[in-house]
Amino acid sequence: MEKTFLMVKPDGVQRNLIGEIVARFEKKGFQLVGAKLMSIPTELAEEHYGEHKERPFFGELVDFITSGPVFAMVWQGENVIATARQMMGSTNPKDAAQGTIRGDFGLTVGKNVIHGSDSPASAEREIGLFFKEAELVDYSKLMNDWIY
Ligand code: TYD
Ligand code: MG
Repeated sequence: MEKTFLMVKPDGVQRNLIGEIVARFEKKGFQLVGAKLMSIPTELAEEHYGEHKERPFFGELVDFITSGPVFAMVWQGENVIATARQMMGSTNPKDAAQGTIRGDFGLTVGKNVIHGSDSPASAEREIGLFFKEAELVDYSKLMNDWIY
């Protein structure tokens, strides 16, 4: 099953948007397979955003993502990587459509509420950076014969 890494950023956690954001992905039909509230160490932030190392906003980005707790998650489902990106909306909230998470809640490009992997390679890399295999659950042996 396809998996992606999603993270409510410090602005989203401070604004009490964890529940709202989790609810959107649950209602869509995706399955949560891992989650934790955590503070990101600087080295992990630099590794996670390594592709932006040379960009002028890199320092601010690392300072922001390490400024307070984040809610890191792994979700699974068909096409979850691309669909989650659509549900998040454009990077800059001013360009993000209403109805998307960034369109509805984001204010500035720096503080845009949520991170989501942008490709299968990013998803695999980012899940590995934030989660150990044993922290992800398996629904395949679920017994649900009491649901009619
Ligand atoms: P990027 O990977 O381009 O966007 P996305 O989060 O949609 O994958 O950039 C990573 C983060 O860097 C982005 O969410 C916000 C921040 N950022 C800036 O602060 N300024 C910028 O000009 C850009 C492009 C990104
Ligand atoms: Mg990105």
